[in-house]
Amino acid sequence: MELRGAQLIGLGSYVPERILTNADLEKIVDTTDEWIYSHTGMKERHIIAPDQATSDLALAAGRAAVADAGIAVTDLDLIIVATVTPDMPFPSVSSLVQGQLEATNAGAFDLNLGCTGFIYALATATAYVTSGMADHVLVIAAETLSRIVDWEDRATCVLFGDGAGAVVVGPGEPGKGLKAFELWSDGSNWQYLSIPKGGSRYPCDEQVLREKSNTMKMEGHEVFKLAVRGCPEVAEAVMKKAGLTHDDIDWGVFHQANRRILEAAAKRLDIPEERVYCDVERYGNTSASTIPLAMDDLYKEGKLKTGDNLLLVSFGAGFSLAGGLLEWTK
Ligand code: UT7
Repeated sequence: MELRGAQLIGLGSYVPERILTNADLEKIVDTTDEWIYSHTGMKERHIIAPDQATSDLALAAGRAAVADAGIAVTDLDLIIVATVTPDMPFPSVSSLVQGQLEATNAGAFDLNLGCTGFIYALATATAYVTSGMADHVLVIAAETLSRIVDWEDRATCVLFGDGAGAVVVGPGEPGKGLKAFELWSDGSNWQYLSIPKGGSRYPCDEQVLREKSNTMKMEGHEVFKLAVRGCPEVAEAVMKKAGLTHDDIDWGVFHQANRRILEAAAKRLDIPEERVYCDVERYGNTSASTIPLAMDDLYKEGKLKTGDNLLLVSFGAGFSLAGGLLEWTK
């Protein structure tokens, strides 16, 4: 028996109002606009208001995606939120969103995977829909990295921004829409990107607070090397799984961590740079949210045509890598 297909039927996004520019960062840490732009391609990023939390961003993006899909919130069977910055350790952000949306028929869970989380969540939603376990799944990526960086560490605090993106996955024709996924993990390299303390191994105490080991720590250069090597590999694997080549790709929508990584991946994959979307200048790295934010911008800018093939690629904490291949059917 052939499984039914799955497709994107709604998209939405939300970024907080406040914008933090490179010039603003020059007043906070020992950095320059020139260093940040030349090393990353970033100019500004959005930062949440003091009274906001991740679920507020997730809710706004989720509402927009459900409205775009033209379905009722009660049509949702499942809500998955990809985030490493939940409002609190538990309950999950997805539970808070489900309650506030009044999506009374939906189950809800979070998925914790850093920047790769959205593709993992999209693959999970696809499996639910193609198997018939769910008809409509709301997938949200929502992150407030500004709440977990060390604002005295110039090597990390300049890189990240806050934001959320969401999609609704619904049934579609077999072989169309969400076509293939590759979900990879290399747990032996977890140490390059983590919040080392403040969890069950080292609960938060005065020393943890003093040394700020409950904030994000990253060996940027190691992550850079793993990303430049791994992104083309996972991209090739997912294209092969979908039976496509680089010539078939209309848009590369890659994790927006650094313009140099996007350029290197485009070159290695032989995809023209103008077909690899880049908005890192405006948003910085919003972790799991970068890909749905970029897809929503492409959609709202009218750049997507029915039948376009989108290649999604991401890397992040874990160390994790993921690729997705979808045909635009809206
Ligand atoms: O989403 C996944 C999460 N992470 C990433 O994607 C990050 C991947 N890595 C990167 O994007 C890059 O490695 C960075 C942008 C983080 C850094 O670029 P880099 O070219 O790898 O620089 P580096 O870490 O090798 O540092 C070069 C220099 C160092 O100075 P010295 O030791 O050469 O004197 C740093 O101290 O740049 C210095 N530096 C800064 N200078 C001004 C580091 N951060 C800054 C800063 N402003 N903000």
